[in-house]
Amino acid sequence: LPQPKIAPSMLSSDFANLASEAKFMEQCGADWLHMDIMDGHYVPNLTIGAPVIKSLRKHTSMFLDCHLMVTNPLDYVDELVKAGASGFTFHVEVAQDNWQELVRRIKAGGMRAAVALKPGTPVEVVFPLVESAQPVDMVLVMTVEPGFGGQKFMPDMMTKVNTLRKKFPHLDIQVDGGLGPSTIQQAATAGANCIVAGSSVFGAQDPAGVISDLRNGVEG
Ligand code: DX5
Ligand code: ZN
Repeated sequence: LPQPKIAPSMLSSDFANLASEAKFMEQCGADWLHMDIMDGHYVPNLTIGAPVIKSLRKHTSMFLDCHLMVTNPLDYVDELVKAGASGFTFHVEVAQDNWQELVRRIKAGGMRAAVALKPGTPVEVVFPLVESAQPVDMVLVMTVEPGFGGQKFMPDMMTKVNTLRKKFPHLDIQVDGGLGPSTIQQAATAGANCIVAGSSVFGAQDPAGVISDLRNGVEG
């Protein structure tokens, strides 16, 4: 299995203290910071955009894993490059026509490219993006409907993870939504190695302990 990457979702952090929350997550052993960018259109919630990524970048050197829940991801690439984003994950549902252009521009800007799929989207849809001459670096299998933290993990999504892991042994496979100490085993067994966790980390008495449980879950 590729290396575990544990990414606390900053959506569950205190947005008024983002710099100190990021520092705290680094001290707790996080590998990446997961940044949920929502436009209030693709999903029924509005969060942050490039200006906030740019501000946070001045306070941390950590990998900023940006998850774009927006209708027009191409419009966000250049701004996020300038802001200092490290990874750019777009949704396949809104990129059927231009994913090659998206991946090209994301990588030209020096970011890692990833593709996400909603619970209702069949996994086969992302195969061409992984098999392309300029492939995505990661696939994000959503384990809740995108839009909000604190929802219940959907175990049915593990068949998608398993299919991807069998077909692409070295691919980074990320899961996002409802992950925590009680669901990590299912995700890890199916083959996920990149774990996003919001409420389970920020709501814990011991966030470092949860992060280490998630890592141990992936490492088996
Ligand atoms: C949901 C977001 C997630 C969210 C996860 O649309 O993509 O990153 O913050 O939160 P939890 O871990 O609480 O389900
Ligand atoms: Zn997310």
